[in-house]
This record gives sequence, structure tokens and C-alpha cells, in this order.
Amino acid sequence: MNAVRGKVAVVTGAGSGIGRQLALELARRGARLAVSDVDETGLAETVAEIKALGAEAEGTTLDVGDRAAFVAYAAAVAGRFGVVHQVYNNAGIAGGGQTILETDWESYDRTLAVNLFGVINGTKAFLPHLIDSGDGHVVNVSSLNGFMAQPTLTAYCASKFGVRGFTEALRTEMIRDRHPVHVTVVHPGGVKTGIASSALKEAQARGIEPTAEQLERVRLYNEKLLKMPAERAARIIVDGVEAGKPRVLVGNDAKLVDRLVRLFPRHYPKLIVDFERRRFARS
Ligand SMILES: NC(=O)c1ccc[n+]([C@@H]2O[C@H](COP(=O)([O-])OP(=O)(O)OC[C@H]3O[C@@H](n4cnc5c(N)ncnc54)[C@H](O)[C@@H]3O)[C@@H](O)[C@H]2O)c1
Repeated sequence: MNAVRGKVAVVTGAGSGIGRQLALELARRGARLAVSDVDETGLAETVAEIKALGAEAEGTTLDVGDRAAFVAYAAAVAGRFGVVHQVYNNAGIAGGGQTILETDWESYDRTLAVNLFGVINGTKAFLPHLIDSGDGHVVNVSSLNGFMAQPTLTAYCASKFGVRGFTEALRTEMIRDRHPVHVTVVHPGGVKTGIASSALKEAQARGIEPTAEQLERVRLYNEKLLKMPAERAARIIVDGVEAGKPRVLVGNDAKLVDRLVRLFPRHYPKLIVDFERRRFARS
């Protein structure tokens, strides 16, 4: 068993949702936490909750898309704790929710900067410290959209398929070069967090008013698809890490879709469109 007790664990995007619950679950299991987020208020709440559990926590405001800041952060965490064992590259955004024809270039840049380069930055900045620990673990959060594509999610799917490819390639290097670092890619299905609503707010902040169809889509996502409590998702992920699993599927929806795309690699896009038409009652 690859226990987290006594380990120094880094969690990005820890100010809410899955990241906050991951940090709390790791704290309950005896880890020492370095947590970060762009959202200072959410981050401060997470740090207070970790400390209330009697665990050690250091909170830092960090944009995972800012490479120089991430590299400096990795050095600071290693200096502060003396060792770093695990990094959970969790921070992510849903992106625009528009078709490729409607999506502006900035949305692609932002979604890939946070979801894909955020993961690459975090992995590369921390990897030397994880190797030095003699017992490292990289945990990169992809999505069921890391193996299943969907309309209006071109940027998100590109980023999450990318996280999967990056992480699996990383694993081959750790095996080939005998580095003492486990590598886990996580594919959550629908988890009850604010991710879909945050995407709307971010678009509005950039002056993009959502269409009635987009608003309805977010409402349906929040009501029908994002179902699993984030606490449960976090337990499944940390159980997977402790068991040394290379791949963690979170939820029956992720498991079902994993099978669907393997069984019907050519036909699944049409099945997805049919499913969405029925779910979102759109012809
Ligand atoms: N909720 C789901 O159904 C679901 C499904 C599959 C995958 N995921 C993935 O899980 C991860 C966590 O998402 P969540 O559902 O908890 O969403 P969330 O919105 O609740 O949490 C994401 C956190 O990341 C932070 N964040 C956003 N941009 C950042 C940046 N540039 N730098 C640092 N922090 C940043 C946000 O402030 C927020 O606290 C994401 O990678 C997401 O893609 C979520």
C-alpha cells in the first residue's frame, strides 16, 4: 500500500470542489498539505478546514498557467517542507461551452493554459523533488472527456485528452528510467461542484453573454449530470493513489463511457449526439 500518512502533498485548485475535498481527505489520512488556488477566499477556507482537522497546511495563491510562478512555488514548497512526495494537478476550468465556430481564440488559449499547461507546469516543476523523495507520486486530473469527445467542448476535450497522453507518456519514462515515482491519471465523471457555473461567470466577466441554450445546458448539467458529491470523488481518488493505481475512473458514468468508446470507437460520436438531443431536448 502506497499510504499518504506522513507524506507532503501538493494540491492545486484547492479552493473549492474536488481540490478542496482532496486536500481534506489527504489531511484526514495524515498528509502535510501545500495547497494553492487563484481564488484567495476559497483557498483561505480550505486552509482553515485543514487546520481544524489538526493537520499542517500552507496556502499559496497560484495561477497554474503561470509557469514562472509555478517553478518558484515548487522551490518554495520544497524549502518549506524539506521534501515533496505527491502532487495533485487538479486545477481546471470547463471552458466556453460554445461550438468551435463560436469560440474565440482567447478561450482556447485560457482553457489549454490552465487545464493542460497547468498540469505540465506542475508535473515538470515538482518532478525533481518527487524523485528526490524516493517515494513520489504524480496525480493528474483529466476527465471522462479525456477519452470521450462531446460537442461544445472542443477546448476542454483537447486539454483533457492532452492530460491523459502527457500523463501516460510520463509513466513510461518513470518505468523506463526506474524513477521512484508512481503516476496516476484520474478520469472523473459528473461531480457536484461549481465548475459549470464558474465557466458561465468567467465568460460573462469577459463580456460574453450566454445564450438561452447555454444557460439551459448548465442548468441540466448541474441538475442531472454533476451528481457525485466531491467528498466521495476525493475518497475514490485517494484510495486509488494508496492502491498505486495508474488509472482511476471516478463514478459509474465514467466507467460506462470508458466501455462505450472502446466498444464503438467509430460510432460513439453519433451516440453522444443522440444522447444529448434526448437529454437537452434539442433537435
Ligand atoms: N466536476 C466534474 O464533474 C468534473 C468532471 C471531470 C473532471 N473534472 C476536473 O476536476 C478538476 C476540479 O474541478 P472541480 O469540478 O472541482 O471544479 P471547481 O470549479 O469546483 O474547482 C476548480 C478550482 O480550480 C481553481 N482554478 C481555476 N483556474 C485556476 C488557475 N488558473 N490556477 C489555479 N487554480 C485555478 C478554481 O478557483 C477552483 O477553486 C478540474 O480539472 C476539472 O476539469 C471535474
